[in-house]
Amino acid sequence: AQDEGKNLKKIVGLAAADLVKDGMTVGIGTGSTAAFFIEELGQRVRQGLSIRGVPTSYQAKLMCYQHGIPLLDPSLVDRLDIAIDGADEIDYSLNAIKGGGAANTMEKVIATMADEFVIIVDHSKLVEKLAVSFPVPVEVIPAALGLVMRKVREIGARPELRMAVRKAGPVVTDNGNFIVDLYFDEAPDVYRLNRVLKSIPGVVETGLFLGMAHKALVAWEDGVEVMLA
Ligand code: A5P
Repeated sequence: AQDEGKNLKKIVGLAAADLVKDGMTVGIGTGSTAAFFIEELGQRVRQGLSIRGVPTSYQAKLMCYQHGIPLLDPSLVDRLDIAIDGADEIDYSLNAIKGGGAANTMEKVIATMADEFVIIVDHSKLVEKLAVSFPVPVEVIPAALGLVMRKVREIGARPELRMAVRKAGPVVTDNGNFIVDLYFDEAPDVYRLNRVLKSIPGVVETGLFLGMAHKALVAWEDGVEVMLA
């Protein structure tokens, strides 16, 4: 089943490369699905496709470099033709949770700059209701950790500071912050949740991508489904 999932990620990563046309500026996503997209894009660049990528993370930046994709610094652009990225969960209105890779803040900046934001997933990411089986990642400045933990408990979330795997201590994001994952016993009203979270001092950004995606490519065993917002 794991191989199957990987294969679907590859299929949708490849399909996404077809959306990138000559001359475009392209927001480049983070994660294992986006990695297949980057690989394919690199191939096409070597075959003559002329594009400039804008990475959503160090992971994306390093991969683009390895695959010969020319890059622009995100801070030097204000608009992109397209942004293509994975997601942890997506519902049928194309609202999504991102940040499983701790890159949700830059991913949201890049998605918002893009004229078209496309989410690429395998069908296992499709859910009826967001935030029931996957937590909502929130990027928090370290000094606000205590305050944020208290405030989110008050609205019924179970917060967990995300811990690093091959380092002692918490995950530190590309921006030098922490990630707090919010678990819920029942589906929250994600619009309200997003507003409340963004009103807490010290919260940099949430992993809720609401009303942002224009399109989703969803890989199934029998092909890639295109969903429009
Ligand atoms: C990174 O912070 C995330 O938003 C990723 O886009 C998301 O976790 C999807 O990752 P996979 O493609 O590896 O499932």
